[in-house]
Amino acid sequence: MGQFELKIYPDPCLRIKTKPVERFTGEIKDILRSMSDIMYRSRGIGLASPQIGVGLSILVVDIGEGLLNFINPVILEGSAERSKFDEGCLSIPGVTVNVKRPEKIKVRAQNENGDFFIREFDGLPARALQHEIDHLRGRLIIDYLDPVRRFIVLKRKSTKKRGQKEITCEVTCNVKR
Ligand code: CO
Repeated sequence: MGQFELKIYPDPCLRIKTKPVERFTGEIKDILRSMSDIMYRSRGIGLASPQIGVGLSILVVDIGEGLLNFINPVILEGSAERSKFDEGCLSIPGVTVNVKRPEKIKVRAQNENGDFFIREFDGLPARALQHEIDHLRGRLIIDYLDPVRRFIVLKRKSTKKRGQKEITCEVTCNVKR
């Protein structure tokens, strides 16, 4: 379980487009456990598999109603009503981006045993899920900025972090076994 670690921008793992989970093995349960461990340790409300270098479509969230696991999640519907909110990301420390998203969504996903479920979410849970589902397609909050603002935000961030060792991805962005 200690094999996974949180990937920090600009780690290339954060840009992988995940593949669907097809076999719901014990290995998937191990990944889910590692993800929730890392999420809680980092005091986050959500974590997606690319953030630990895994290229399978898996995410976890805890927005006050306990741990929820989503495997192969798909947004079936999004409300026309949208809202804006300053989002942070465990993989891009020190950066928040104001992102406009549908207020309500309907999601279909599978649990750790492969059983399908459909649920509707609104408010913060809906937002957290959309943020994590973006991760599964290699999309990050900074992608919502126009190029000029993205340059300014990341320049400020790199100045702040000067002197720290840059973390790079050396493992393949996938599950090995
Ligand atoms: Co994030």
